[in-house]
Amino acid sequence: MASTSPSPICPDARVVSIDLGDRSYDILIGKGLMRADSFAGLPRSSQALIVTNTTVGPLYTARLREAIAPLHKQVLDVELPDGEQFKDWPALNQVFTRLLEEAADRKTVLYALGGGVVGDMTGFAAACYMRGVPFVQVPTTLLAQVDSSVGGKTAINHPAGKNMIGAFYQPLRVVCDLDTLSTLPQRELLAGIAEVIKYGPIADAEFLSWLEVNLDKLLARDHAALMHAIQRSCEIKAWVVGQDEKESGLRAILNYGHTFGHAIEAGLGYGAWLHGEAVGCGMVMAADLSARLGLIDEATSLRIRSLIERAGLPVKGPNLGAERYLELMQVDKKAEGGEIRFVVIGPLGSAGMRGAPEGVVRDVIAAHTA
Ligand code: NAD
Ligand code: GLY
Repeated sequence: MASTSPSPICPDARVVSIDLGDRSYDILIGKGLMRADSFAGLPRSSQALIVTNTTVGPLYTARLREAIAPLHKQVLDVELPDGEQFKDWPALNQVFTRLLEEAADRKTVLYALGGGVVGDMTGFAAACYMRGVPFVQVPTTLLAQVDSSVGGKTAINHPAGKNMIGAFYQPLRVVCDLDTLSTLPQRELLAGIAEVIKYGPIADAEFLSWLEVNLDKLLARDHAALMHAIQRSCEIKAWVVGQDEKESGLRAILNYGHTFGHAIEAGLGYGAWLHGEAVGCGMVMAADLSARLGLIDEATSLRIRSLIERAGLPVKGPNLGAERYLELMQVDKKAEGGEIRFVVIGPLGSAGMRGAPEGVVRDVIAAHTA
């Protein structure tokens, strides 16, 4: 697993390192991290651009600006419209326009300040602008702190498929300041807990048991519980990405629940359900699929469902119709030659990828849609 060490910045903060050769970096996790020490050692440049959105910007841009001021002569910012439905070309283009208006050079550092939408778009903008400029992730949602800010997947959506246009492009550092979670709406916290839960069934059955015991503390935003959940999630993600950065195999397990989940998101229109909600429901469906394929027993599938339900996440998908689910799932990035491939659990704490007979998939859809 990835190594974790205490942070020299503040005693109760942690540093999880992700090992990717010359693209290795640290993930800092703790309270009060929006300060200069957290960004020490990052490149100095004349310009930096904070990319955020209209919700997060007014809350945290000033704090981040002050923290990175020692590194840059000029710190610019751009506020994108807020929402998954704006994870698209026009919003991305706003970033490029801002950079070009200011004649930003190729040393300009981009800072992604926000949730997964801002993080994915900023990373993609950084990968593209002048064929690549450095960027730093400052995730402000639980989902982004445990998943999207780590590992270098960057993208925008296409109306025909989620995250279909993008690049692998690693940040220089990830700074997870738990203080930012204090303003996060509860529904968004729950969506993040879905991605935390994901790591148990796919990689760590003990963590799943820990979550069953500590779920109420997480829901109440208990600091120690959040620290542990974020640290363990980042360790598992760093361990997976360290072995398979560009998803030629193992990394696909991080998409547990996502095949069904992406179909829900695209089928309803982006933004109707939160990504984490769709993944939560998708994990229930994928657990049932694993049980129907004989990879786990039904009790294990129900155990996963019960935790997701206790977390206040939806466990019944929308009634899009089986045909529409199948059609949408064929656009999934894991599909090969038109065959839909699913992340399946088995035994608990490990996962793999495989196709499934269409009849079984139809049974799963019928059993889990309202
Ligand atoms: P999000 O970025 O839309 O943020 C959720 C909401 O919370 C937004 O309204 C945002 O403005 C608001 N917000 C963010 N931080 C806040 C704060 N501290 N206080 C108050 N409000 C705050 O959604 P998300 O759940 O963070 O991310 C979902 C996105 O992440 C999806 O697009 C998904 O595809 C992507 N994702 C990417 C990866 C990856 O590996 N790159 C992994 C998982 C998910
Ligand atoms: N969230 C899936 C991945 O990073 O691969």
